[in-house]
Amino acid sequence: MQLADQLAVGYAYASSLLAFMVDGQPRPFSATFAVTNRCNLRCEYCNCPYIDPTNLDLAQIGVLFERLRDMGIRRLGLAGGEPLLRSDLPDIIALAKRQRFFVTVNSNLTLFDRHPERLADADLVYTSLDGDSAAHVAARGDRAHDGVLDAIVRLVGSGKPVIAICVVTEHSIGQVDFLLRQAERLGIRMHFQPRCVDTDVVRGSVATSLSNEQLRAFWRRLLEEKRKGRPLVSSTPYLEFLSEWEDFSISAYHDPGTRCPAGHGYLYVDPQGKAYACAYTKGKMTPVDLLAQDWRTAWDGHNPCTRCTVGPMLEFNMLFKRPFAAALEGFRTYG
Ligand SMILES: C[S@@+](CC[C@H](N)C(=O)[O-])C[C@H]1O[C@@H](n2cnc3c(N)ncnc32)[C@H](O)[C@@H]1O
Ligand code: SF4
Ligand code: SF4
Repeated sequence: MQLADQLAVGYAYASSLLAFMVDGQPRPFSATFAVTNRCNLRCEYCNCPYIDPTNLDLAQIGVLFERLRDMGIRRLGLAGGEPLLRSDLPDIIALAKRQRFFVTVNSNLTLFDRHPERLADADLVYTSLDGDSAAHVAARGDRAHDGVLDAIVRLVGSGKPVIAICVVTEHSIGQVDFLLRQAERLGIRMHFQPRCVDTDVVRGSVATSLSNEQLRAFWRRLLEEKRKGRPLVSSTPYLEFLSEWEDFSISAYHDPGTRCPAGHGYLYVDPQGKAYACAYTKGKMTPVDLLAQDWRTAWDGHNPCTRCTVGPMLEFNMLFKRPFAAALEGFRTYG
């Protein structure tokens, strides 16, 4: 990340943190926008391809991005569904860059060889790797591994930072050695996230063959690998938190003794322009239509849950709950 981008994101985060600490008006610094729910794959744990396939057009996205910028957003994640299915993805990224967002894109990369130009202007690419070819296909379906490694090689070769996300399932739990060695060889970094259950954007449940003790041991093991300097972006506070999670069949719950920074520090916007505190709350809260309303005044400030294991959000939550440790590592990782 360029120094100017780092400073802009850092300042927006600090303002966001301060607003959260004093319980002031929400001031999100980061947003995830799902550009489409459509997808060319059918991963066993994901529900995106089965929900509303409609999406905003470019003009509406331009308005949306202006509103996000006015709100204080400086970091924008473009996700899905599969963003490479949108032929206007380069225009969407250009609109985001016009607002001077730091732009990340999540893609399964199976369509990259057909459309490499669609990711050219992303600042960082997230992809998915659930293990070796057999483990990846077991979780994500036939052809889900095709072209992914070649795409990563080309992206890294062009100077693009790449982070691969592994969803922890019965297929991937034994794949840590393979994935970390592969990441070292490819010049990328890994993020691991628990399989999230029980919300509109996901499917299925945690395999009964995986015990909670086995899963906690998995996260403790990752903590050790992190301390050895292996290529893991998952932060230490995040790994420590997951090493102590009681029951992985529950992804989130309401604990009256704690607040959640979702909605205050970051938010999720679905392909129709409806905003939620985070992706997990889709279907659990009344959304705010960002083309018609201002999040800061229209959202009631309440989340259905306050503690969770939901991968990307838990990392953000650590930025607000253990700001010193998590932010220091975050800036070392993404700097
Ligand atoms: C929804 S996908 C969108 C981007 C792209 N289609 C991909 O798969 O990389 C974003 C990430 O969420 C992960 N994911 C999907 N369902 C999940 C679940 N139930 N629990 C945890 N992560 C999940 C995917 O593996 C992927 O890394
Ligand atoms: S995880 Fe990504 S690739 Fe898999 S079905 Fe969901 S959106 Fe598609
Ligand atoms: S605890 Fe917060 S971040 Fe986690 S799922 Fe609930 S609202 Fe989202």
